[in-house]
Amino acid sequence: MADALGKDECRGLDVGTSRIVLAKPNGERPTYDVQLNAFIALPYAKMTEKMLQDEGIYHRVNDKEILAFGNRVDEFANMLGGDTRRPMKTGLLNAGEPKSKEMMALALEEMCGKAKNGEKICFSVPSAPPDGDSELIFHQHIIKDVLTGLGYQAEAVNEGMAVVFAELADDDLTGIGVSFGGGLCNISVAYLGLPILSFCTTRAGDYIDQSAARVTGQTPTTVRLHKESTKFKIGEDGANGIDQALTIYHRDVIKHVIDELEQRLNASTRLPRSIRSMPLVFGGGTAMVKGFEAEMKAALKTVKLPVEISEIRHAKTTSNTTAKGMLLASMLNM
Ligand SMILES: Nc1ncnc2c1ncn2[C@@H]1O[C@H](COP(=O)(O)OP(=O)(O)OP(=O)(O)O)[C@@H](O)[C@H]1O
Ligand SMILES: [Mg+2]
Repeated sequence: MADALGKDECRGLDVGTSRIVLAKPNGERPTYDVQLNAFIALPYAKMTEKMLQDEGIYHRVNDKEILAFGNRVDEFANMLGGDTRRPMKTGLLNAGEPKSKEMMALALEEMCGKAKNGEKICFSVPSAPPDGDSELIFHQHIIKDVLTGLGYQAEAVNEGMAVVFAELADDDLTGIGVSFGGGLCNISVAYLGLPILSFCTTRAGDYIDQSAARVTGQTPTTVRLHKESTKFKIGEDGANGIDQALTIYHRDVIKHVIDELEQRLNASTRLPRSIRSMPLVFGGGTAMVKGFEAEMKAALKTVKLPVEISEIRHAKTTSNTTAKGMLLASMLNM
C-alpha cells in the first residue's frame, strides 16, 4: 500500500526523551513540528481549561486535574514552583511515571493527527541499552500501537541510522552517524545504507544536567537553561560557577561514545575489508553547544579505529536530524 502513496504522504517522527519532532515533506525542505516531551498536572478549574484551549496547549482533563503537555509546560512549572514530569527516560517509556503511556498517546494524537489514507510513518527507537532489550520491545510496541490506532503504517527505525539517512546521502549512506540526545547517545556504523553496528550509551544531556547540578548545588533546570544559552562554551570558564562542571561532563559524554566506538568497531567482524575510510557525522541537541566539534576531533585523536575517519562534521539539521532521517526512511519505504 505504501508503494501507492506519494512522498507527500510520508512522515518522520523523532520520539525523543527530551523532544518529539514530526517531519513532513514540503518541497526541498521538510517542515518540523517540535514539542517538549514533558507535562504537568494542574488542579482542575474551568478557567485553566479555557486558557489552555485558547493558547493551543495540548491537554486532557482527568477528573480533578488537567494534564498539560508540550512546549509551554516549563512556564507553568516555573510559575507553580514545581518541576515538569517526563513520559520518557533514557530513550524509552519512563517506568517510574504512571502517566507515561497516556501522555505519549496524547502527544502523538495531537501532533500526528489521524491518518487520512494509511500514510507511512517511520518513528525513531534507540538501540537497546545494556540489559534493556525487553524494555525496548515494550516501548516500540506501545508507540507503534498508538500510531497504528491513528491509521498510519508505522515502522520503527534505529536513531543512529537516522543520522546516516539524513546526512550521508552523498557518501552512499556509508559512514558513522551519532545522535547526542537528552537521554541517550545513539551510534550507527553503516555501509551502503545497511547497519554494520548500532549501539547506545546512557550518558547524554540529562546526565550532564543532573551531574553538574549535583556538584554545584544548582537545580538540573538551572543548569540546563545555562547550558542551552549562548553563554556557555566547552573549555571556557565564564563567570558562571557551572561552566567548569559542564565542560567536564560534556567531555565525559563524548569520551564515553568514542571509547565505546573504538572497542565495538575493533571487535566487529562485519566491517567490509574494502573500506579504508568513512566520514563521521554527529547531531542531536547535546551537540549544539559551542566547542562541541573541536572536542569530538580531540577525542577521536585519542583512539585507534580500524578505519580512517575521512571527515568529522556537524549535522546540517542538528536538532531535527533524527526526524529528517525518519522522513527519508519512510520515503525510502523502509
Ligand atoms: N542550544 C542548545 N545547547 C545545548 N544543549 C541543548 C540545546 N538545545 C537542546 N539541548 C540539549 O539537548 C538535549 C536534547 O537533545 P535531543 O532533542 O536531540 O534529545 P532527544 O532526541 O529528545 O533525546 P534522546 O534521543 O536521548 O531520546 C537536552 O539535554 C537539551 O538540554
Ligand atoms: Mg534523539
